[in-house]
Amino acid sequence: MNILYKSEPERGRLWAERLKTLLPEATFRQWPDVGDPTKIDYLVAWQPPENLSGFTALKVLFSVGAGAEQFDYAALPPELPVVRMIEPGLTSGMVEYVTFAVLGLHREMPRYFQQQREKNWLAHASLPAAKRRVGVMGVGTLGEAVLQPLLQLGFDCAGWSRTPKNIPGVASFVGEAQLGAFLARSDILICLLPLTAATENILNADLFSQLPPGASLVHAGRGKQLNHQHLLNALESGQLAAAVVDVTSPEPLPADHAFWRHSAIWLTPHIASQAQPESALTALLENIRRFERGEPMHGLVERERGY
Ligand code: NDP
Ligand code: OXD
Repeated sequence: MNILYKSEPERGRLWAERLKTLLPEATFRQWPDVGDPTKIDYLVAWQPPENLSGFTALKVLFSVGAGAEQFDYAALPPELPVVRMIEPGLTSGMVEYVTFAVLGLHREMPRYFQQQREKNWLAHASLPAAKRRVGVMGVGTLGEAVLQPLLQLGFDCAGWSRTPKNIPGVASFVGEAQLGAFLARSDILICLLPLTAATENILNADLFSQLPPGASLVHAGRGKQLNHQHLLNALESGQLAAAVVDVTSPEPLPADHAFWRHSAIWLTPHIASQAQPESALTALLENIRRFERGEPMHGLVERERGY
């Protein structure tokens, strides 16, 4: 079995080392050391090589990340399975980030940090978690996982997805028809949607106007889902109170971008979660085993729906 890896070199070195014991029969090559392209069975990459025509034996393209929207599907062989990364380390990272962000917003930390800068010792009435309505857009691998600690903390939780979900304690809202009702009950809105034609620019003025006044946003999906100027306007008008933003378009933002210094925005450089080298390798090998046994792989992208 021949695996070609084309991503962060340090993780590649670690994987090469571990594979010697985990799968000694495998040949692991790191880009650009392709060897004979006709011998490569599996490609693991954030971006594949520009021209895949020489990779005649390629069986699966694995994304090193949870997202797989970065691939140019028109340039990939139509039958080539594309698989995104689902692994517990990446999920835990997102659970930590979203829990941190929701607690920070729930306890009005952006407001208190601004008061600290102004040397203003001023307490505001606080709400119990049960009175704070949290809405998660995208109830997939990550969305479902982040809901668990939020439920345990007592937040009033709902999710929005394309298909109905049955998660105890979580109200399920489905599709365009129920988006308005979902937004109207989301004091803290979390975006964990994949980037598709339907979700591009979804976080815009029209959507913000349907949230309860003074709501907050946690955006950890993809940069192109958020309209920056509309977010700034919503913060300016008070329709939104604060936002925690992990993903932007472009990344990084230019030095003069308003997000850098906005007191109601916590900006992080796309670090909400990252695949962890060891658990990601285990997940990759499990998927290869599943493929070779003819079993369904975890995270197979359905090209027609875009994720
Ligand atoms: P999944 O594919 O498991 O889940 C996607 C969810 O979004 C599903 O519930 C799906 O609905 C829902 N969805 C998709 N399109 C629509 C739509 N048009 N309307 C309503 N719901 C929709 O993805 P993951 O949970 O694994 O990852 C989600 C995203 O998180 C990634 O695509 C990536 O963009 C982002 N991410 C960000 C990271 C960061 O560090 N900031 C790290 C990792 C991921 P249904 O269940 O009905 O199909
Ligand atoms: C991912 C990411 O998709 O880090 O894994 O955004």
